[in-house]
Amino acid sequence: MDFSPPGHLHSPDAVRAAFARIAPDLCLLGSNADAARELGRPVQVLGRRLPNRFCIHPMEGWDAEVDGSPSPFTLRRWRNFGRSGAALVWGGEAFAIRSEGRANPHQLFANPAGDTRGSLSRLLDEVRAGRREIGGDPDDLAIGLQLTHSGRFARPTPAGAAPLCVDRNPVLALRQGLPPDHAIATDDELRRLRDAFVETAALASSVGFDFVDVKCCHGYLLHELLAARLRPGPYGGDLDGRSRLVREIVAGIRERCPRLPVGVRLSVSDGVPMESDPDLDGVGRPQHRPPGPWLHSFGVDPSDPERPELDEPIRLVEALASQGVELVNVTLGSPYWCPHLQRPASRPPSDGYWPPRDPLHEVVRHLRATRVIKQRLPWLVVVGSGYSYLQEWLAGVGAHEIRSGGTDLVGIGRMVLSYPEFPLDILAGRTPERRRICRTFSDCTSAPRNGLRSGCYPLDPAYRDLPEARRVRALRPSPPGPAPTPRS
Ligand SMILES: Cc1cc2nc3c(=O)[nH]c(=O)nc-3n(C[C@H](O)[C@H](O)[C@H](O)COP(=O)(O)O)c2cc1C
Ligand code: SF4
Repeated sequence: MDFSPPGHLHSPDAVRAAFARIAPDLCLLGSNADAARELGRPVQVLGRRLPNRFCIHPMEGWDAEVDGSPSPFTLRRWRNFGRSGAALVWGGEAFAIRSEGRANPHQLFANPAGDTRGSLSRLLDEVRAGRREIGGDPDDLAIGLQLTHSGRFARPTPAGAAPLCVDRNPVLALRQGLPPDHAIATDDELRRLRDAFVETAALASSVGFDFVDVKCCHGYLLHELLAARLRPGPYGGDLDGRSRLVREIVAGIRERCPRLPVGVRLSVSDGVPMESDPDLDGVGRPQHRPPGPWLHSFGVDPSDPERPELDEPIRLVEALASQGVELVNVTLGSPYWCPHLQRPASRPPSDGYWPPRDPLHEVVRHLRATRVIKQRLPWLVVVGSGYSYLQEWLAGVGAHEIRSGGTDLVGIGRMVLSYPEFPLDILAGRTPERRRICRTFSDCTSAPRNGLRSGCYPLDPAYRDLPEARRVRALRPSPPGPAPTPRS
């Protein structure tokens, strides 16, 4: 391979040199003390003064009970989110507004036949208990719930996929074995889902969540709708139509729960569907698309869809902000069709492909997209994504982004699975423990792709010692022949 994962770079100067080759405008703060100071600066969020700049991204575990209640694994993960010391817990994990909107049979969901209120209260209690365990104050913490419908990627029972598509995307239809003229959700179905989003937000509010996230990312229903240019009727066509459902949901929540803050996690640019190239030892390449403009991705130039185009995402965020959305969590792409972009990694998940170039490029795409949103809408609270690949250098780069006005909070995902106390150690100015740093091996993505619960099998003892750990390890893609050589 002709890229060095950041963990192999042994000095800030080596990291600066790596950035200089790819993105000379990006950099990092050099010392632990500098990073601690910057990430430990208070920030005004939801009318409160939160004590630091770390945010925990939503991280699903494919480990809820089939009735939608949390299992001991789920509760442990939420407790770890509290133990992290991060001031903001964005969503906890994707919580389906309906049983048929789950992405897997072990996703948390609003179950009218179950004790959903009790489940949500237990999750909140776990985060707060985790915060107390590390000597922190639960009042210094804001916790949201991420509301989702998985749309095209719904798989609510072991019987298999039950996609609810809102657009006819020919490339994804081919991947999923759907006929080109497959059914799409009717406008009435979408209105019923809108009401279910509002209902679930009201429940989250009554239980005590500080905000809800209307999930608009990663290929799920509301995100797919943003690219449905060819969909007829009120929920497709121009940006006004494509964003109508999310705006109606936000309006519905604002009307029903005027005191409940609303955030949106948005894939501001989709990228294009990728596939593994057998002639290049499994390195990723754009999947073949029909000729002509590509009309099924959001935040890209239809005539050159590999090129991000953020005009529409900016207009959407402006519209959401005018409705009272206070927080935006910027993310990119989808873990299904472009995992190298959505979660940059040294090693792909079992159903993925080797990165087509140094994954640092994809980290840079996240940093740049977040900067654009923050700079265009400086009054919004903005959270950035895609940091875990940076490993030892995560805090230094995050601190630089905060100091230079590129983001308000540094969101972290996989790093808290392997090392929940990472933010706490950084904030205390301690050198992170090398053996606990996420090395982006992707086992936490491969496991659920193969029907197993997610977790950090290589580094977290609670997963490393499970009987299925060996099976997860065996899932790691090892290309035939020599190691792949991603293009730099
Ligand atoms: C195991 C796993 C579960 C995830 N679950 C969710 C989820 O429920 N909702 C969501 O918006 N993103 C989810 N993500 C994406 C992360 O929130 C995050 O965007 C991604 O991992 C990139 O951040 P990182 O580089 O810090 O890991 C998940 C990622 C992983 C690896
Ligand atoms: S399995 Fe662990 S080390 Fe690998 S990407 Fe996930 S959190 Fe990181």
